[in-house]
Amino acid sequence: MELGKKVTVPDVARMKAAGERITMVTAYDCAFARLLDQAGVDLLLVGDSLGMVVQGLETTLPVTLDEMIYHTRMVARGAHRALVVGDLPFGAYQTSPTQALESAIRLVKEGGAQAVKLEGGLPMARTIEAIAVIDVPVMGHVGLTPQSVHRMGGHRVQGRRHGHGAGERERVLDDARAVQEAGAFAVVLECIPLDLAAEITAELKIPTIGIGAGAHCDGQVLVLHDLLGLSADWTPRFAKRYAELGQEVVRAAETYVREVKEGTFPTDAQAFAPPKTSTGAA
Ligand code: KIV
Repeated sequence: MELGKKVTVPDVARMKAAGERITMVTAYDCAFARLLDQAGVDLLLVGDSLGMVVQGLETTLPVTLDEMIYHTRMVARGAHRALVVGDLPFGAYQTSPTQALESAIRLVKEGGAQAVKLEGGLPMARTIEAIAVIDVPVMGHVGLTPQSVHRMGGHRVQGRRHGHGAGERERVLDDARAVQEAGAFAVVLECIPLDLAAEITAELKIPTIGIGAGAHCDGQVLVLHDLLGLSADWTPRFAKRYAELGQEVVRAAETYVREVKEGTFPTDAQAFAPPKTSTGAA
């Protein structure tokens, strides 16, 4: 993909066909969206992970559609090149395909999303189809689906041959197939064994975007706070911290606190001179 050119949904398909790896990063506000866009990230995902990394929640479950729209709008303002994908939060699409359609339309109309993402495979096929048929591009999400945290008993690797059995591996494969069949333009594979991700990537015509799914996916996605080293104390095994901005923030804020306390900030350089008084005027 050329750096100056706007990334579109057909471009994402072309990238798979051309063997060009796709990059996606989560973004939650305009400032970071601008920076990631400038860096050449292809897709910005306004993930419901914002519940955990921005709102400080334990899970993504309480995040609302109104909150997703609010954050998507900010990201859309900062993204000029990248394709903006808005996540449908828990409870905004599971009731019926009609509910999903209404939520997807709001994310596009009010949030400025250019595509939407939802979690789930086979059980969500009719829902994906209902949204895709009105020309809102849908990204699927299978494997570890954080909105199913209670069924899964935590954020655990899915589709392992051993442990939870071969049936679970088949289920992830069937989910990925169903997502493609329903009309999704791409699918996130989260926390599945790398050989399973490779098998799905080789079989599907739509691009796979992996997170904790190994190097054989068509693309990769990372949560912004993991990539930048902003997440407080824990980074998932599959993530890579490309910077330690959290430490930089603490260091900068500590210096500011010290300078204010000791009176070395602000100096005259950061202050406005008083108005000149005219002398000798009547
Ligand atoms: O919400 C999110 O950030 C996600 C990614 C981890 C794929 O769904």
